[in-house]
Amino acid sequence: MAGRKILVAYASRYGSTREIAEAIAEVLRERDMEVDVANVVEISRIAGYDGIVIGSPIYMGKWLVEAVDFVKLFQSDLHKMAVAVFAVGFSMRDPTPDNRRNAVAAIQAIRPYVHPLDVGIFAGRLVLSELSVPDRQIVAMSASAEGDFRDWDEIASWAGELETILSPPA
Ligand SMILES: Cc1cc2nc3c(=O)[nH]c(=O)nc-3n(C[C@H](O)[C@H](O)[C@H](O)COP(=O)(O)O)c2cc1C
Repeated sequence: MAGRKILVAYASRYGSTREIAEAIAEVLRERDMEVDVANVVEISRIAGYDGIVIGSPIYMGKWLVEAVDFVKLFQSDLHKMAVAVFAVGFSMRDPTPDNRRNAVAAIQAIRPYVHPLDVGIFAGRLVLSELSVPDRQIVAMSASAEGDFRDWDEIASWAGELETILSPPA
């Protein structure tokens, strides 16, 4: 529906979730929505949007703390708008039922504060040479592979389905 104002809010440590947020925004814009994209740490106001998409990568089994804090901070505004969330994790390069369950569990911390109408779970990107020393040590311990496993078709198709969800409350 034209004229709907949507915010795509993301957390991201190395940029891969930001790029997913931008891809989602692009799909929504193609459907005539008015879309802003911003990092959660830069957002000071969400009142006035009809709907919001909130995404974070998964680190050590959880959404990034700034994404959880964002949800807590704006919980009363979020109750007045349509909310969809997504999580990005490297384990989803292998989308077994167990890995999917763990990725869905990563958003457990926000459940008391928001009732998302949809939850997207996407594979991410891991490039060892880009990581901070502590992050590289953590990844080395789990002997993870590296690479970019983001599935842009899957992301675009999830974003396309949001059109019906992100409608203003009746
Ligand atoms: C230290 C560290 C811990 C991670 N922990 C998880 C995890 O628990 N589950 C998972 O699926 N992916 C995990 N990942 C992979 C990231 O979620 C993935 O690389 C994501 O695309 C990063 O997003 P960003 O570039 O927006 O920060 C981890 C990556 C790092 C570096």
